[in-house]
Amino acid sequence: MKAFFAAEAQEAEALREALGASEPLSGPLPLHRGEEILVAETGVGKAAAALAVAHVLTRFPIEEAYFLGVAGALDPSLKALDLLLAEGAVQWDVDLTPFGRAKGETAFGVRLFPSDPRLLQKAKEAASRLGLPHRLGVVATGDRFLADRKEAERLRAEFGAHAVEMEGAAALFAAWRFGVPMALVRAVTDGAGKGAEGDFSAFLKAASRRLGLLAQALLY
Ligand code: ADE
Repeated sequence: MKAFFAAEAQEAEALREALGASEPLSGPLPLHRGEEILVAETGVGKAAAALAVAHVLTRFPIEEAYFLGVAGALDPSLKALDLLLAEGAVQWDVDLTPFGRAKGETAFGVRLFPSDPRLLQKAKEAASRLGLPHRLGVVATGDRFLADRKEAERLRAEFGAHAVEMEGAAALFAAWRFGVPMALVRAVTDGAGKGAEGDFSAFLKAASRRLGLLAQALLY
């Protein structure tokens, strides 16, 4: 069985439509079942994402998991609706530097939580097949909607990150703890600078639709 996770209601709705996941299941988050697939609407932020992944992975025999959603571009060469296939994600707001750890390094000793390489390759092939602009890169995850270009530049320099969002590293962390392969893919809505919230709203629907197409292609 495959599981697809998305944070926002609009993202999850696009996934449900594209994947034919129409049977609602009860639980602490909106969860729908289709044929050998689940779509989970996690809610926004790291805690919500980790909870949702833990809930699904403890209750269903998931062999492949994908976290799909939108992101702000840190790398200015990324344009609206471009796909970023995350090689890994770092929690940019984790700071244990007083204990000698690097910025973003967790108490587990892990800084970058990787996407499963096989699933990432599947996503790459699916994006190529669909002719969607895409690239590999690093995602910075934190509990803040970034609308500050200076901060965006700092995250880019400090973590070598190409895009910023609010769930990916937490979802990959939870999947890693369960030993279930997961890949993270993001579609760009904004530039994480001034007015990012307006661009986010303007591009959310189109980006969600694009992620729905990708999810469909990931079924095979
Ligand atoms: N998701 C989409 N755009 C974002 C931004 N600018 N900051 C955090 N998460 C986002």
